Amino acid sequence: MGREVVVGKIKVIICQDKQEVSREAAAIFIQAINSNPEIVLGLATGGTPVGMYKELIEMNKKGKVNFSKVKSFNLDEYAGLDGSHPQSYRFFMNQNLFNHINIDKSNTYVPEGKFCDCEQSCRNYEEAIKKNSGIDLQLLGIGSNGHIAFNEPGSPEKSRTRKVDLTARTIDDNTRFFDNRNQVPTQAITMGIETILEAKQIILLATGANKATAVTGALKGPVGSRLPASFLQGHSACTFIVDKAAACEL
Ligand code: PGA
Repeated sequence: MGREVVVGKIKVIICQDKQEVSREAAAIFIQAINSNPEIVLGLATGGTPVGMYKELIEMNKKGKVNFSKVKSFNLDEYAGLDGSHPQSYRFFMNQNLFNHINIDKSNTYVPEGKFCDCEQSCRNYEEAIKKNSGIDLQLLGIGSNGHIAFNEPGSPEKSRTRKVDLTARTIDDNTRFFDNRNQVPTQAITMGIETILEAKQIILLATGANKATAVTGALKGPVGSRLPASFLQGHSACTFIVDKAAACEL
């Protein structure tokens, strides 16, 4: 069990390592799903949540958690990639979670990356979240530049699902998932900051020393667009689960 501290309204659980972060996060998700089997989850991609997804898969196989009535909305998708592209976030979710648990895939939503009408597609995504009564439990990572989803520095608090440009830093950070930097899309569709803040409960995961400055800024820095994760300071049910390395500047 990690050590707990409270910074403003945010509970911070500081774990020994990445594995403990994954276990703590999975335990929270499993408890939430068991107490509300029809829960609407907000899900994230990237390297950080993979360990938690592995835990969820294992617990589902053991019969400790049932996803049959769960719905999910993912935070973002690369612009220009459709769901069959191996680097798309739809593909990632299928590979790292959905293909291995008893979720109904028609209840899993990921923003459309390859679309005819982007604005309509973003509006439809917001509508689908509303129609399902909003997100109960939202999982987040954090970028080394303080982004949440693909809300890069400069994103307004009142933003909603839309197409955005990725910063050079995010493209650098995500190059590790591609063969080379030129292959990383330069734009994405992302839920907005306001969309994220409407989730009833938020869990942010961060591991590694390269996230320490962003984590400290999110918790203790001024609230503003310069570091989008700082807007979480205004949420009434937000928990950060971090490892010692990501907490080293707190
Ligand atoms: P990562 O990405 O989990 O791959 O570090 C997190 C993010 O950019 O939000």
